[in-house]
Amino acid sequence: MILITGASGRVARRTAALLAGRPLRLMSRDPDDVPRLEDAQIVRGDFNDPTTLDAAFAGIATAFVISGQAPPGKRALLHKNAFEAAARARVQHVVYLSLKGSGPNALYPYCRDHYSSEQFLAQTGVAHTVLRMAFYLDMFLGKFDQLGVIQGPGGDGSGAFISREDAAQAAAAAVANLPGGILDITGPELLSVADVAHRLSVATGRVLHYRAESAEQTRRRLSQTGTPELAQDLEVGWFQTIGAGEQAPVANDYRRLTGKDPQTLESYLTAFPKLLDILHKAQTP
Ligand SMILES: NC(=O)c1ccc[n+]([C@@H]2O[C@H](COP(=O)([O-])OP(=O)(O)OC[C@H]3O[C@@H](n4cnc5c(N)ncnc54)[C@H](OP(=O)(O)O)[C@@H]3O)[C@@H](O)[C@H]2O)c1
Repeated sequence: MILITGASGRVARRTAALLAGRPLRLMSRDPDDVPRLEDAQIVRGDFNDPTTLDAAFAGIATAFVISGQAPPGKRALLHKNAFEAAARARVQHVVYLSLKGSGPNALYPYCRDHYSSEQFLAQTGVAHTVLRMAFYLDMFLGKFDQLGVIQGPGGDGSGAFISREDAAQAAAAAVANLPGGILDITGPELLSVADVAHRLSVATGRVLHYRAESAEQTRRRLSQTGTPELAQDLEVGWFQTIGAGEQAPVANDYRRLTGKDPQTLESYLTAFPKLLDILHKAQTP
């Protein structure tokens, strides 16, 4: 039996669909939000409430633990609850959705938090695969303002961004494989923020561009719109980790795991054209 946590989420739904036909148990804080799949069990479970986790992990051979939602620092403690429940249930393989660039001194706060999660997972002794996903290409789409500008302290650094679809493809393959340790799941090429803006311009026919800022400029701009300090830290860290090359280099683990090439920006948007709606909406005066 395979467990997928956070089953109402986007990567979880797609991973479950890719694994349909195998014995599946889908865990969610809100089971009503989980898409129905033939023969899949649905169970309520919340990393915040360890009493729900023992029932969710009972009888599971492989668990795909999707990182949940909480501020950096607190989030790793949620994952610790999940890993400890997996150990109590003698789960044979935990696949954990982590982030590329994870490390104790990473510039993006969630990369530091994922590193702590990975340490907690290793401490349980459960055999595991850690999927360090590069930033999703999707994340760029929501960062352009009304004038078609994406701005932040990313300098001219580049990253090997991956599609959310390929994140799910990698997860489905990892779940079906033996434990593989820490894997870097990246897209096929290195792109700077300016490159992404340019390639999206070509794909959409809209004028989109990148304006590099210093971290101080970004904080000042965000402060003026009343953005809370934690959200400022996350926005600044997101760009800085790209600027510092923490989302690079391109890795071969996606190909080894799935036997396929990861999608380019263009092939992803061709397959999922509705993704561009957010960009079109942002630019409608
Ligand atoms: N690499 C990147 O650029 C990038 C970008 C965004 C996110 N991510 C990571 O990738 C993960 C999957 O992405 P996604 O787009 O599928 O995210 P998503 O749609 O937001 O799904 C995340 C799911 O996490 C579950 N969750 C939240 N708090 C939880 C808790 N306390 N206990 C158990 N489950 C909890 C929720 O599922 P239920 O409501 O069903 O419980 C939620 O639907 C995210 O969770 C995030 O960690 C990575």
